[in-house]
Amino acid sequence: MKKILYGIDFGTTNSALSIYDEEKKEILTTILIPSLIYFPETSASEGSLNYIVGETAIDAYLEDGMKGRFIKSIKQILSRSSFTETRIQNKRYNASQLVALILKELKTRADQFIGQSCTKAVIGRPVFFDDDNTSKDTLAQTRLNKAAELAGFDQVRFQFEPIGAAFAYEKTLTKKEHVLVADLGGGTTDFTYVILDPNKTGNIDRKEDLVASGGIYIGGDSFDSAFMWEKGTPYFGKYTQYEATPGKVLTVPKSLFANICSWDKMNFFNGLKIKKEIEDYYYFSGNDPKFKNLITLIDHNLGYSVFQSIEKTKVELSFQDHSCFEYSNMNIDIKEEVDIAEYDRIIDKDLQKIAHYMTEFLQKNNIQESAIDSLFLTGGTSLVPAIQKLFKSKFPHIKVNSGDNFTSVAKGLAYSSYLFEDGY
Ligand SMILES: Nc1ncnc2c1ncn2[C@@H]1O[C@H](COP(=O)(O)OP(=O)(O)OP(=O)(O)O)[C@@H](O)[C@H]1O
Ligand SMILES: [Mg+2]
Repeated sequence: MKKILYGIDFGTTNSALSIYDEEKKEILTTILIPSLIYFPETSASEGSLNYIVGETAIDAYLEDGMKGRFIKSIKQILSRSSFTETRIQNKRYNASQLVALILKELKTRADQFIGQSCTKAVIGRPVFFDDDNTSKDTLAQTRLNKAAELAGFDQVRFQFEPIGAAFAYEKTLTKKEHVLVADLGGGTTDFTYVILDPNKTGNIDRKEDLVASGGIYIGGDSFDSAFMWEKGTPYFGKYTQYEATPGKVLTVPKSLFANICSWDKMNFFNGLKIKKEIEDYYYFSGNDPKFKNLITLIDHNLGYSVFQSIEKTKVELSFQDHSCFEYSNMNIDIKEEVDIAEYDRIIDKDLQKIAHYMTEFLQKNNIQESAIDSLFLTGGTSLVPAIQKLFKSKFPHIKVNSGDNFTSVAKGLAYSSYLFEDGY
């Protein structure tokens, strides 16, 4: 039996597992999957509940005409005390049970790769699961720990995700450096300020090198929400007017549309009362076709596919100056040209929050800009040009490195085996 440890980055959008050979002190491979679960709609007579995790979940969900239950950004429910369980075809799932499905998928694939079962893992966690709330944070880690146990892990340690990213970056260095690491993911942006030294990777005496860590609950999902609000909601009736009382015309409440701007809020429309309200607005708007789009979106569960188009637009704008946000389905026809300047404006509020947090982080921890040797940007959202511009303008004299956007955290977690040694 080989001595193996898994480094697991359970992410909002993507999850990765690095297989680390503890004797050879090297990573054998890294497995990456989207953090998605799909429960197809099966009738009771078809027997046991089946589900699909990872890349094939999207295709199966779309092929099935978006029926069944599709679960995305599940990490965000870990810190929500209001979420206790969800019922999927008469079976109850709590947060840990759902997360365990993703961890188990990663474990199964990795176990197959090494030809044995590994039950030892360093699992990443954001610096804050929720904005600075200790009880929510504890709840989230407890749930994640339980999920790991359900997935078959019996030796588990936690490590901050940006420290994972830092350790992966450390492997690329040739000399000691003071580094500010920013990991910009789907759900959160995490910072860590560390002293990296390639001769120390995996050593037990790292406590003093990990100077400060912090984070904010903003990531690529927030950009997609802002985009939906600006460019998507007008197609779903944000400006629809209706006759509230005879002769009195009002615009439908804007607050309604906040619920189609983030994936997790879509369930808001499941209640009977709200369904009736929506129907009333539609009737008293004189059957406004744009408002009809909202009803179609809700009734046919189109949220995920609309957000896929939004993400595609964002990704294109990381490589070119123009893109078109297009969506055409069930009489909903969206076509919006977007250029990079407009996109930057749409995400500006979130960018300012990230910038403000970063300044605060440096001040609070007494980190002088002159002491920073380099920056390391990682995570999918670090590919957004405005993010790169932000860092370059904040630190004009510091070298900005980026890369390994989707696997750096898992790799660095795998280099954190020292957490199992005495003294930790
Ligand atoms: N080329 C790209 N340009 C811009 N954004 C991108 C690109 N590729 C991916 N993204 C975005 O990056 C995010 C996913 O990044 P990543 O996999 O690092 O997040 P995560 O680890 O799952 O999330 P978290 O760390 O917050 O839990 C998504 O919001 C995705 O839309
Ligand atoms: Mg991440």
